[in-house]
Amino acid sequence: MNPPLLEVRNLSIRFATEENAVDAVKGVSFQIEKGETLAVVGESGSGKSVTALALTRLLPEPPARYVGGEILLDGHDILQMPPRELRAIRGKRIAYVFQEPSTSLNPVFTIRSQIAEMLRLHRPEVTDIDAEVAKWLGLVGIVDPAQRMRDYPHQLSGGMQQRAMIAMALSAQPDLLVADEPTTALDVTIQAQIIDLLRELKTQLHMSILLITHNFGIIGGIADRVAVMFRGKIVETGPAKEVLHNPRHPYTRALIACIPRLGQRRRRLTVIDHESLG
Ligand SMILES: Nc1ncnc2c1ncn2[C@@H]1O[C@H](COP(=O)(O)OP(=O)(O)O)[C@@H](O)[C@H]1O
Ligand SMILES: [Mg+2]
Repeated sequence: MNPPLLEVRNLSIRFATEENAVDAVKGVSFQIEKGETLAVVGESGSGKSVTALALTRLLPEPPARYVGGEILLDGHDILQMPPRELRAIRGKRIAYVFQEPSTSLNPVFTIRSQIAEMLRLHRPEVTDIDAEVAKWLGLVGIVDPAQRMRDYPHQLSGGMQQRAMIAMALSAQPDLLVADEPTTALDVTIQAQIIDLLRELKTQLHMSILLITHNFGIIGGIADRVAVMFRGKIVETGPAKEVLHNPRHPYTRALIACIPRLGQRRRRLTVIDHESLG
C-alpha cells in the first residue's frame, strides 16, 4: 500500500529561552492522503501554526527545538533531511497561504513579478510566463487576469489579495497546500467565497489541503477529516461530518458551540472553561 502523502508521528516541539520553556506541540500525530483535506481546528495558541510551520522546518531554531517525532513526506522524514533537500520541498511540494497578505505579497512588486519568481524557482521549464501567470490568476477567480497581473498588491481588495496569494502558492503545483487561517482577516461573505474556491481547486487539481482555523463554522463544506487541537495536543480526530455532528471531546463541543450562526443575533460566545478540560 502507498504511504500517505504526509504522516506526522508523535511530533513534539519546544520553545526554550533562558527564562522559560514552552511545549507548544506535544506528541501530535496525523496523516493526510493524496487529494484529501484535513482541517486542524483549535483556539488561538493551541499550536496550530507551530505544527504547520514545522512541516517544512520553518520554525526558527533556536528558540524552537524538535524534541521528538517524525514528519514523513512520501515516507521520508523531513526532520532528517539536509538543508538542500528541505529547500527543494518548501513551496514546491508543500506550499503555504497565510492569513495576512503582507506575509506573502511584497508591496513593491506587481502580482505578475511575484508569481513569475515562483515559476522561476519551482518550474523553470515554463517559458510563457505571462500566459502561466494569467492561467493561475484566472483559476482563482480573478477577472481580467492579463490586466490585473500588472497591479501592485495594494490595488487589490483583501479578498482579491488572498486569491492572488493562493494563485502564487498553487503556481508551483504543490502536492500539499497548507492554508493557515486563510480567511480570518476577511469579512464573512468573502470568507465563504475563499472556502468555496479552495474546495473547487482541490477537486480540479487533486491536491491535498491542510486547512488551519479557529473557526469550526468554515470547515463543513471542505474538510474530509478534522483534527481538534487543544493545548498542543490533538484531542479528537475523525471524519468531518462525524466530528461536527457527534463531537466526543468537551473541548470540541465548546468550539462547535462558538460557531457564529448566520441570521442569528450575535450571542455571547460560550466561554471555554479550560480548568474543567484539564
Ligand atoms: N517563536 C516562538 N517563540 C516562543 N514561543 C512561541 C513561538 N511561536 C509560537 N510560540 C508558542 O507556541 C504556542 C502555540 O502557538 P501557535 O502555534 O502560534 O498557536 P495557534 O496557531 O494555534 O494560534 C503558543 O504558546 C506560542 O506562544
Ligand atoms: Mg496560528
